[in-house]
Amino acid sequence: MSTINHVLVTGGAGYIGSHTVVELIEAGNKVTVVDNLSRSEYKIIEGIETITGTKIDFHKMDCLDAEALHKLFSQNKFSSVIHFAAFKSVNESVAKPLSYYKNNVGSLIVLLDVMKTHDVKDLIFSSSCTVYGQPDQIPVDESAPFKKAESPYGSTKQVCEQILEEVATEGFRVVSLRYFNPIGAHPSALIGELPIGVPNNLVPYVTQTAAEVRKALTIFGNDYNTSDGSCVRDFIHVSDVAGAHVKAIDYVNKQSKSFYEAFNLGTGIGVSVLELVKKFMAVTGIRLNYSIGPRRPGDVEKVYANPEKIHKAFGWQTKYDLGQSLLHAWEWEKKLRDI
Ligand code: UFG
Repeated sequence: MSTINHVLVTGGAGYIGSHTVVELIEAGNKVTVVDNLSRSEYKIIEGIETITGTKIDFHKMDCLDAEALHKLFSQNKFSSVIHFAAFKSVNESVAKPLSYYKNNVGSLIVLLDVMKTHDVKDLIFSSSCTVYGQPDQIPVDESAPFKKAESPYGSTKQVCEQILEEVATEGFRVVSLRYFNPIGAHPSALIGELPIGVPNNLVPYVTQTAAEVRKALTIFGNDYNTSDGSCVRDFIHVSDVAGAHVKAIDYVNKQSKSFYEAFNLGTGIGVSVLELVKKFMAVTGIRLNYSIGPRRPGDVEKVYANPEKIHKAFGWQTKYDLGQSLLHAWEWEKKLRDI
């Protein structure tokens, strides 16, 4: 029987962070959440409390605030940290690269420094399949080289991974999880994604179109070299992504020496944008208003994971399929809009 972990989750009010907090609590871990609520809302913390029946130890705090973090680490003996807190908009990062480097890279450095001071060595880091760009081989595995990043956002993930790989030698035990395309929401519809303004990502755009918040969905290109001409991605249920973090903590706990390792976190199934739209209509019975538009600059044509490494190392598998993921996304949208 393993001892109880006390996990610090930064960005725990965010989309993937909040679902991970639920999975951590349900697996018996003690959790402390910090979030500056700059891109999230406190009602998500209340949703977590309703799902788990547990009061969340929540601190409104910015991860660039070293003094506040030091104080928190002095008051608690954390066994590990999961670092979600970061900006994630590709478009915004192009407009404001400095704020992306400061927030995403800067907060990681502050956090590592505080962890070192307080002798907390175990870290799970939120990375992205964006580090691969358009890989030469698909499904892509972890040995694929980093390609030039398509955006400052992607670049921050590459830089953070490089920092972690080097810093791990100072005694850290670090796992980076390279997320593919997380979608959906908790099956309870009590927590889910809260996009700011007009969504950039496909599934929130689909659900908002279905909810008639948006007039029509545009499919960005149907002339790619794929089965139906639309881009191909690896869409994975956010609760499955969250569950992998619980396994990552167990994995790190088992290691005796400092190390750095990156894992793909995807289903291994490539789904085209058009297939996803058709699946959404099939599972919800809603006729979506959509049309084909031009390609979106910076989009990769096709990417999906080879998830063999994470399957073997963590004993982790997905629980939800695409249809369930889309239904859960729709249930969450309906809850948000009182539909
Ligand atoms: N798409 C549309 N219409 C829309 C929105 C998206 O056709 O209204 C298409 C995109 O062109 C793309 C696919 O749906 O082909 C998926 O787009 P998303 O924006 O949902 O996801 P991306 O794969 O572009 O981006 C995701 C993450 C980023 C990360 C990137 C790395 O959201 O954070 O993967 O590949 F950088």
